[in-house]
Formats: sequence, structure tokens, C-alpha cells
Amino acid sequence: MNLQASRGDGFLRTDQLVKRFDGIAAVDDVSLSINKGEIFALLGSSGCGKSTLLRMLAGFEKPSSGVVMLGGVDIASFPPYERPINMMFQSYALFPHLNIWENIAFGLKREGMPKPQIDARVAEMLKLVQLEAFSKRKPHQLSGGQQQRVALARSLAKKPELLLLDEPLGALDKKLRERTQFELINILESVGVTCVMVTHDQDEAMAMASRIAVMSHGRVLQVGTPKEIYEHPNCRFVADFIGNVNLFEGELTVDAADRCEVTTPWGVINVGHGISGTLGMAAAIAVRPEKIHISKSRPGVTVNLFTGKVLEIAYFGSYNTFIVEVKAPDGWPRTVKIMETNTTRYESSVITWDDQVFFWWDDSAPVVLTQ
Ligand SMILES: Nc1ncnc2c1ncn2[C@@H]1O[C@H](COP(=O)(O)OP(=O)(O)O)[C@@H](O)[C@H]1O
Ligand SMILES: [Mg+2]
Repeated sequence: MNLQASRGDGFLRTDQLVKRFDGIAAVDDVSLSINKGEIFALLGSSGCGKSTLLRMLAGFEKPSSGVVMLGGVDIASFPPYERPINMMFQSYALFPHLNIWENIAFGLKREGMPKPQIDARVAEMLKLVQLEAFSKRKPHQLSGGQQQRVALARSLAKKPELLLLDEPLGALDKKLRERTQFELINILESVGVTCVMVTHDQDEAMAMASRIAVMSHGRVLQVGTPKEIYEHPNCRFVADFIGNVNLFEGELTVDAADRCEVTTPWGVINVGHGISGTLGMAAAIAVRPEKIHISKSRPGVTVNLFTGKVLEIAYFGSYNTFIVEVKAPDGWPRTVKIMETNTTRYESSVITWDDQVFFWWDDSAPVVLTQ
């Protein structure tokens, strides 16, 4: 794991940031360090405190305690308009009676920027979001995706040091959202602005962010690159929240430098690294569906090998998903999800419903979770 990347250079820092509403912590002890030029995502389900955290960065919400530092300066006493920060709201909040040009120019005029400079900046912003041809239209004469770009152009017009995006693609439908993700990243990267975005959509966070903070109940559970969070989740919640995962609960029975074993009601699961835990402690084995092999014939392996019956198959074109039922003691997950990439066109039809199958994984595939 790249610890440097995980820690950040501290351009934007929060230290033990807390926000309580009526005694209940909406944001609970959040310490983050974000790099200059980074696209950083706050990811979590609705109500976990993402917007409240973002609003404290913007200055719209006063922290109950804790510190926000930008470029080494404590900005707690700065009102929103004195922070080199701009926030783009989910609703875009465009002025309906102003045309696109005027919407983008609004903040610049209020700042007292001379007219020729405003003209140049608005033209630059319109070019950036590729809406030059639409400058005289009103917001309602644009599509949702175009309105989103106007809101972005307006947010970037004052050249903020930090851009805050609250569910930037939340108002768009799924297909348009996926297309817009890449446009948005391209624009943000071309201006090089540091960006903190909020989303409840894990695919969006994975596609767009250089690093992600996974939040739950006001707390940040893990910070890492999309790959770190996917491959090395630090707790059951993160493993389960990001992507698909099979979790097998058991107890740590061997823990050496280069290997450990977790004993589950299904049998012993072998892992190719140690965890420096305490023998007997509760531990879950997390295995991603695509890291499990499946076959009708017995493979030449003896560890992490199980058998079961195929309950369900779903074809997704580029891959298949199998739900395999395992005869297991009561109280155990009775099914395992396995994903197989379709590398050849005909092979996938070999396994079908009700087949008895073997499934297994390499000892490098699992992650051991004790939290
Ligand atoms: N102004 C407020 N007054 C009281 N409670 C609030 C206020 N703003 C947010 N909350 C509460 O704080 C929690 C986090 O809300 P929010 O930050 O909007 O979550 P998210 O953006 O992750 O959906 C929720 O329980 C919400 O009801
Ligand atoms: Mg929100």
C-alpha cells in the first residue's frame, strides 16, 4: 500500500472535525489530509454526514469542534465568501431568469472584476465545458447534462483553490451519469483544481476519485485509492459496501509471519499472509466473487477447496455470475457468489443449474477482517 498517497500532503486538512445537531454527531471525529490537485470522494449511504462535512469545508456550517486547514491556514474564522473555495450544489442552483453567459459571469461581476476580464473569463469557461454555442440560452432550454456543465463553469469561473461538489451527477439518469463522469474528470484535471466530491454511488467514486473516504454514521472508516479500498478493505463494512464480497465468519487458529488460518464451520481457510492477531479472535474471510474459480471437475488443489450445487446463473455478456449453494451448518451463509469472465464464447455453457461444482481460491485472494 502506498502510505504516502494515503496520508496526503495536507493541502486541505481536517483535524478531529465534529458537527453535532441536537447532541447527535452528524460528523464524528473526522481527520483527513487531501493533496493539492486531487479529486477526493466522500462516499457513503444517505444520512452518513457527507454533505455536512462538505458544508463545514465551505463554511456554511460551523464545526462543533475540530479544525479545517487550507494551505496551512486555519480557515475557521473565514466566512464562505472569503474562502478560496467554491461549492456546486446537487440542484445546480442556476438563476432561471439569467442566460448561461450571465449565470457564469454572476460571481465575477459581484466581485467587481472589470468587464473585459469578465468577457475573457466567461468565454474561457464556456469553451472549457463546450457550451460556446449556448451562451444566450436560459437554463431551462438546456438538457440536464448541459445544466450540470454550466453549474461547473460557474463554480470554476472564480478560479477557486478548492472545488466542492455535492452529488455532482445526482440529478442525471444512470446512462448520462456514466458518460458525464469522464467529461467531468477531464475538465477538473485540465484546470488542475483540488476537488472534494460527495457521492453515495460507489461506481462513481471508483471511476472518478484519486482517493476515497468511506463514511458511515458520521465517521470515516477507511481512506485509500479505489484499488486499495477494493483490494484491502480494513473492515467488514467497507468490504461489503464496495463491490461484491463473500464473507465467511470464523476464528483465527494459526497466525505466522507468512500465513494464517481461519477456522470456519465450513472448514479451515488458508491465507498466504499473517495478520499479527490474537489466536482465537473472531475473524472474517472476505473473498471477491471474481477471485473464486469454479469447475465441474476436481481441480489439482487441496486447500480452500469446497463443493456445492449451482442454484442460479446470470449471464452478463462479458462475465457470468453463479450462486452456489453449500451444505453448511445452520447459521452459515448457504450461498457463495462466484464471477467468471467469459474468455471464450462456448466454455460458459459447460456449467448449468443444479450441477455439482468445485470452487476454490488462491491463498492470496482472501482478506482477513477483524473489525
Ligand atoms: N441542519 C440540520 N439540522 C439537524 N440535523 C441535520 C441538519 N443537517 C443534517 N442533519 C442530519 O445530519 C445527518 C447527516 O446528514 P447529511 O450530512 O445531509 O448526510 P448525507 O449528505 O451523507 O446524506 C442526518 O441524520 C441529517 O438528518
Ligand atoms: Mg447529502
